[in-house]
Amino acid sequence: MKVFHHKSELSDHINLLKGDGKSLGFVPTMGALHEGHLALVKAGLSTNDFVVVSIFVNPTQFDNQQDLVKYPRTLDDDVALLKTLSESTIMVYAPTVEDLYGDKVLSESFNFGGLEHEMEGAFRAGHFDGVGTVVKRLFEAVKPDNAYFGEKDFQQLQIIKKLVSSYSIPVEVIGCPIHRAPDGLAMSSRNTRLTKEHREAAPFIYKTLKSAKTKFGTKSAKTVSEWVVKQFKKQSLLKLEYFIIADTETLKPIKRKSTKKTYRAFIAVYAGDIRLIDNIALN
Ligand code: PAJ
Repeated sequence: MKVFHHKSELSDHINLLKGDGKSLGFVPTMGALHEGHLALVKAGLSTNDFVVVSIFVNPTQFDNQQDLVKYPRTLDDDVALLKTLSESTIMVYAPTVEDLYGDKVLSESFNFGGLEHEMEGAFRAGHFDGVGTVVKRLFEAVKPDNAYFGEKDFQQLQIIKKLVSSYSIPVEVIGCPIHRAPDGLAMSSRNTRLTKEHREAAPFIYKTLKSAKTKFGTKSAKTVSEWVVKQFKKQSLLKLEYFIIADTETLKPIKRKSTKKTYRAFIAVYAGDIRLIDNIALN
């Protein structure tokens, strides 16, 4: 399996493949790969000749320095896991900070039409400027035909679609369903940092989302939200940061339920000092 650390080597190789008319899928990640990431890579392999997986813990998207420092970095294990899918048609791009940022580790400033101000944008200052900056640079380096993002980070997926349309980047952005552990917890690289107690408590998040979905069939968004807040008050190991029912397209919090619109519930929860997010389609 080819592992590139510099965009120049990556570009040379990609130009050769493109010259041969090969199609290219792309899965950007921050590594510590799990089944959720692999599902995106498999989706990429099913419709492209080659898939590039980037592994880069992007400093500019972290609002919490401790989270950045403690983010798991497991490149050798990640490469070994990817090899189980394919050695010859997957390439890894694991750049240094310098390769992507030079000596200025700074975000560009983006206008994503308001998508960036909701939820994760409201609670994590500068997060989506960091994500936009790195994904735009990665798209420029990889030049993929198709790029795969998980609905686990639904707001990020919508923002990337907006980035691509705003800058006319010639890539198809494909959203993939949330991959869950058998007990319902959405897979995440951060799950490995949960204590045993917090890991056991965490499936409550998805269980509550499923109940909220059922309640949303007959109750108002306000009633459902108040119910969720009450459920989390009873959980000593989990601290609710937000639960928001929002319009799937605009990500604006729902005002009045309309049968013409689709909604999703979004949640962020602290399990100790690990922040977990999840979401569910409501209708
Ligand atoms: P990371 O958290 O590593 O996630 C990489 C991709 O995997 C994202 O598209 C994310 O939504 C997807 N993913 C993670 N867990 C998933 C799950 N349980 N089911 C389905 N998809 C899942 O998201 C990032 O990295 C970064 O912000 C990045 C886009 C790489 C920019 O730095």
